[in-house]
Order: sequence, then structure tokens, then C-alpha cells
Amino acid sequence: MIIDPKKVSTAELFGYLTTAVAPRPVCFASTIDKEGNVNLSPFSFFNVFSANPPMMVFSPSRRVRDGSTKHTLENVLEVPEVVINIVNYSIVEQMSLASTEYDKGVNEFDKAALTQVQSEVVRPPRVGESPVAFECKVDRVIALGEGPGAGNLILARVVMAHINEDYLGNDGKLDTRKLDLVARMGGNDYCRATPESLFEIPKPVLTKGVGIDQLPPHIRNSTILTGNNLGRLGNVERLPHPADVAKVVDSASYRKIKAQGPEAIHRLAQSHLNQGRTWEALCWLMGL
Ligand SMILES: Cc1cc2nc3c(=O)[nH]c(=O)nc-3n(C[C@H](O)[C@H](O)[C@H](O)COP(=O)(O)O)c2cc1C
Repeated sequence: MIIDPKKVSTAELFGYLTTAVAPRPVCFASTIDKEGNVNLSPFSFFNVFSANPPMMVFSPSRRVRDGSTKHTLENVLEVPEVVINIVNYSIVEQMSLASTEYDKGVNEFDKAALTQVQSEVVRPPRVGESPVAFECKVDRVIALGEGPGAGNLILARVVMAHINEDYLGNDGKLDTRKLDLVARMGGNDYCRATPESLFEIPKPVLTKGVGIDQLPPHIRNSTILTGNNLGRLGNVERLPHPADVAKVVDSASYRKIKAQGPEAIHRLAQSHLNQGRTWEALCWLMGL
């Protein structure tokens, strides 16, 4: 199936875009208008884009149904400040409630029973229940169009960060396993970053993986090993020397499995890979 964006409705395209580009983190943005009325709304067209300067971007779009603009956009054009509050599982329902299209001037902190805490540098308050909140000055607003569904990029420069210390690990750093963050998927779906859903991928920072193209063809073209398995193998910094291989394969157990055919070795190598024993897996495979 191929889709030409010009040939489908904006609503349909929105569905494909937001279901495919997921999970998206949620920016729970508090702003004020020039009279000082507080607004709080979630936006999942959001991310961090720079650490120096520390810059986040989110996008209140024009409504697909009538092209009207959102209060958050109107507010930052009047008062160019925003607090970006991070959403975890414990406040996800209150965050969803705050996305209701209340009339201008209605404070969603009250509607969603969230605690308004005075900020240090900017005028909009932060959400007391958020694990992390970033006070920001709005650097620029870039309108991506004028029609229904058009995004408006709000470039927000972080001027102060607030971290609830309950979410720090023993090393004093923010702990992903404690944060319990949520993200928006397509439609009404969300996902939750529980400790069980996390996995690690080791990545050399100072060195380069050899690449899958450097693995011998009998490994590269394996009918057992998956793309993920090959990705892990291609991440080794060097291929084992024959002496390295000999150390691993010179055993009765290796010879016994090898006697069952190369597929048996591939399966065992795969099981090593699943346990994070990459080097051993590669030596097993190179011993064929
Ligand atoms: C999780 C979540 C993510 C959302 N992301 C966006 C978004 O990225 N852009 C947008 O325009 N609206 C988004 N919305 C809808 C707005 O939150 C909603 O239109 C809200 O009423 C806007 O409030 P405002 O007019 O007070 O700014 C999202 C809603 C939810 C629940």
C-alpha cells in the first residue's frame, strides 16, 4: 500500500502519521494569557532537540475540523513562556482530562485537580505531581501552514528544571525505572515504560562496530539468526582471531553439537545472543 498525502483527507493522514510515529512523549504545557489566566494542555507532537542550548519543541496544531487555533498557541504568542511538565502513569488520566476543549479562561489545573506550583523564573505555574518540569522561555513560534491540521512549532528554551527526588536513582541521576513514563500511540492507545518493558542495547561510543557486511556469508545468510541477532553481532569491534575461536570451540560439547549440523550451532549462538553473550556466540559461529 502506498499513500500520496495529497490524495487522502487530513483526518485519514493524521491517523497514519500518528499511529506510525509512536510512541510519542507527552508535553503537558502550562501557559498564561496576557490577563494571567492559566491554561494546561497535553501535546504529543513533542520532543527535546538540543542540549546546548537546551531546547524542546511541541506543536499545538490548528484543529482538523475547522482550522481554529488552540489556547496554548494563543497564550504563548501573548506571553512567550511555558512550563513543560512530564507525564508519568500516576497522572495519565488527569492529563487526558485536561485535554478537554474547555472554554478560554478555564484553568485545567482545577478541572483535573492538579497542584499549581509557582515557577522560579517564568509566570506559568508548574504541575506539582509531575516527576520533572521544565520552565521555558519561548524562543520562536513557527507556523507550518494556515489550513486545518497545520502544526505550529513552539521552540521552548529551558531556563530551569525541577526534578522530584523520588525519581532519582542511587547514583543521583534520573532513573528510568522509577519514572514510569507514558507515551501516546495512535488513536486512544498509550504505552507505559514499566521496568519489564525496558531492554538494553549496548552501543560502543568510542569505537565502531564491524558491520553485518563484514560477517562471513554463512553467518550473514543464516536461516536461523534474525536481523536483530545480526545487528548485535555486527556491533562487535573486531572479528575473533582463529586463536579466540579455538579457545571456545576446542571442546567435546562443541564438537557434539557441530555434529548435529550447522543449524544446531546457529541455534545455540542465538541463545547465547539472547543472554547477552555476543562474543561467545560469534566464536561459536566462526568455528563452523
Ligand atoms: C495525549 C494527548 C496528546 C495530544 N497531542 C496534541 C498535539 O500534539 N497537538 C495538538 O494540537 N493537540 C494535541 N492534543 C489535543 C489537545 O490537548 C487539545 O486540543 C486541548 O484541548 C488543547 O487545549 P488548549 O486549546 O487549551 O491549548 C493531545 C491530546 C492528548 C490527550
